[in-house]
Amino acid sequence: MCDIYILGIESSCDETAAAVVRSGEEIVSNVVYSQFATHQAYGGVVPELASREHLRAIVPVVRTALVEAGKSYETIDAIAVTQGPGLAGALLVGLSFAKAAAFAAGKPLIAVNHLEGHIHAVLLEQRQKAGLELEFPVLALVVSGGHTHLYLAESRANGWVYHNVGQTRDDAAGEAFDKVAKLLELGYPGGPIIDFLAPHGNAKAVNFPFAQIKHRDRNPENRHEADARRIDFSYSGIKTAVLRYVELHDMRSSIEHRREALRAMASPKPPDYITLCDQQTLDLIASFQSAVVNDLVSKTLAAAREYNASTLLVSGGVAANSLLRDHFEQQARQEGLPAYFPSRQLSTDNAAMIAAAAYPLYLAGEFAEAELSAEAALRLGKDDASRKQELER
Ligand code: KG4
Ligand code: ZN
Repeated sequence: MCDIYILGIESSCDETAAAVVRSGEEIVSNVVYSQFATHQAYGGVVPELASREHLRAIVPVVRTALVEAGKSYETIDAIAVTQGPGLAGALLVGLSFAKAAAFAAGKPLIAVNHLEGHIHAVLLEQRQKAGLELEFPVLALVVSGGHTHLYLAESRANGWVYHNVGQTRDDAAGEAFDKVAKLLELGYPGGPIIDFLAPHGNAKAVNFPFAQIKHRDRNPENRHEADARRIDFSYSGIKTAVLRYVELHDMRSSIEHRREALRAMASPKPPDYITLCDQQTLDLIASFQSAVVNDLVSKTLAAAREYNASTLLVSGGVAANSLLRDHFEQQARQEGLPAYFPSRQLSTDNAAMIAAAAYPLYLAGEFAEAELSAEAALRLGKDDASRKQELER
C-alpha cells in the first residue's frame, strides 16, 4: 500500500503542536510549542491565556511542521485534529484552523480523541522500532494533567474499541503533581521538577495512605453490578494531606524563602531547586511521589488481573515519571505482563500522536463533517456497566 502522510494538529491544553506522520508509523516532523512560560506565574493553565497563545502559535507551528517534513498542503493526504477532551477555547483554535486548512486544500479532515492520541503515542513508537504484535485485551492507563483513565481495549476489524473500566473521581494524577508543586513553590508544571527532586528525599518519611474505591455511587441502590469491578482513583485527598503536613510542620517560612529566592533568579534550573529545598521538603516530595506512583501502579495491575489483560500501555504526561516507569516495568514483569510506554518526548502532549491515531480512521474512511465542533468533555469508549449490559444481551 502507498504511504499516507497525515498532518496532525493538537491544541487541547497548553501545547500548540503540529506533526507529519507517515502511515501511522514514522514521525516525519514533530513541532511542539509549549506555553509553560505563560502559565508559570499562575501555577497552572489559565484557559483564556492558553487560547490566546494558541492563536499566536498555530500558524508558525503548522508551517514549521510542514517545512521540516518537506511537505505542503498539496502533498499531504489528510489533516487530523484533536476534537476533545480539553479546554473549549483552546480546542477551538486548532479545530477551526484544521477545518479551514482542510477546506482550502481540499483534503479530508479527521477528528481525533485526545485520549486515543495518547494511546497511539505508544503504538507509533513501538511500530517505529519494530513490527509490533500486541496481544489483546490491552489495558491502557492514560495519566496526565487532565486525565487518569483506565481503558480496556479490544481489537476489531475497523480499529480498536475501548471500555472505560476506571478513572479518577476528582483530580487527575498530574493535577496533584502540579498543585503540590504550586503549594511548595516549585513552579509549573510540577511533574518534572518533583520527578527530579524526589530521589534526594526519603520516600518513607511521610505516610500517605490511599483507599480502594470500588463504587461510583455511595447509595447501594444506585449501583450497577459491574461497578464492583471498577477500579477508580482519587487524588484530591493527597493534595490536602500535603497542605496539612506543611501547616502542621511550620513549613510556610521555608516555602516563602524559596519563592523569594526563585523570584530573584532569571531562569532557575533544577539544581537550583535542590539548594533551595531543605531535607524536610525533599522528604515530603519523595513521599508524595511514591504514594501517587504506588497507587497508580497497584490499581492498574489490579485492573489488569480483574480483566485478564494481556498487555499494558501507560501514556500521558505523568508516564514520563521515572519512578512510575520503574515500578510499572518491575511489577508488570513479575506478573508476566508486557508493559509499553512512549518516550518522554511523546508522553506529554504532541501532534504526532494525533496524526498516528488518525491513520486507522483514514483507512476506514472515517472523515469529519464540515460541522465538526470541539467537545470539551469528549469521552473515549463505553463504560464498564454498558459493556456488561452489552455482553448480557
Ligand atoms: O499529557 P500532558 O502533556 O497534558 C494533558 O493532557 O494534561 O500532561 C501534562 C501533565 C502535567 O500535570 C505535568 O505535571 C505531568 O503531566 N508531568 C509529569 C512529568 N512530566 C509531566 N508528572 C510526573 N512526572 C513527570 N516527569
Ligand atoms: Zn494530554
